[in-house]
Amino acid sequence: MLDWKNLPFGYIKTDYNIRYRFRDGKWSKPEVSSSEYIDIHIAATGLHYGQEAFEGLKAYMGKDGKVRLFRWEENAKRMILSAEGVKMAPVPAEMFREALFQAIRLNRKFIPPYGSGAALYIRPLIYGSGAEVGVKPSAEYTFIVFVTPVGPYFKGGIKPCHMMICRDVDRAAPLGTGTFKVGGNYAASLRALIRAKEEGYASTIFLDALEKKYIDECGPANFFGIKENSYITPKSESILNSITNMSLIDIANSIGMKTERRKVPVEELAEFWEVGACGTAAVISPIGKIVDPDKNKIYEYCSDGLPGPSTLKLYNKLVGIQYGDEKDEFGWITIVE
Ligand SMILES: Cc1ncc(COP(=O)(O)O)c(C=O)c1O
Repeated sequence: MLDWKNLPFGYIKTDYNIRYRFRDGKWSKPEVSSSEYIDIHIAATGLHYGQEAFEGLKAYMGKDGKVRLFRWEENAKRMILSAEGVKMAPVPAEMFREALFQAIRLNRKFIPPYGSGAALYIRPLIYGSGAEVGVKPSAEYTFIVFVTPVGPYFKGGIKPCHMMICRDVDRAAPLGTGTFKVGGNYAASLRALIRAKEEGYASTIFLDALEKKYIDECGPANFFGIKENSYITPKSESILNSITNMSLIDIANSIGMKTERRKVPVEELAEFWEVGACGTAAVISPIGKIVDPDKNKIYEYCSDGLPGPSTLKLYNKLVGIQYGDEKDEFGWITIVE
């Protein structure tokens, strides 16, 4: 039996995963596999040329015993964008849905119970599986969905974490692949992420690659700041369009806050009342301190060690909808029967 309340954000083996192959211009029927391994051609473009993309979403167990999937259509759309961004065969939304549902149903016993604060993380991935030696897109693709139960990404859940501004590594270029969820962006972020972790920070904050003037995002999460009654989040050509962030903008508007998506200069950090990172994995992580070592600057928030009032309000509403405690007024939830 798993220790549901203390799950890491990590991989735990479940019973089944779902696989499809794209060959001769069409996708196969699903195959249910109980293996954690794949056979992969030594010349597959996914291994050599970064033809790979993935998604991440969660299924939540409600108090009523119903399993809720949060905004899967948005993940399906983003995976199509990512696939097209690195010239892969896109996964049709209906096939994406079928794979998610099957993976969740077959691994139902791994969905963390209501009240544990954990959820079933769903990881769809696609890669070029055909052999090529020259740089070109593969003619064959493999799409897999596996699931694993997870706790929160940033330890401490809603406890404020510390972040470090990174000025010597870029995760993505302005006209590059930053808006796609492709493996290469994560590989590019690792040097900065590991350094931040070694120095005791939860993650790194990337700035815009061109001018280093504006905030891009927080490792694997988007950034937001709160000033007076406004929710402010960066507009950038090189960040992943977070579904959590999109949802928080709608929630903020619905509770009477103003919202702005615009460039956020680094100096504005001194003006925010609350700041945080948001994403499927991060949920909402309030940030207690941001250090900019190269500029010798420290920005501090949450002086009492607790999340700010607006952050908390947004968190409670979002998590309430996801677990079914709050009315799904935006139509974001799909019940997995
Ligand atoms: C780079 C990056 N930014 C932001 C996010 C948050 O996006 P979402 O809210 O859709 O999970 C993620 C996680 O998916 C990410 O990897």
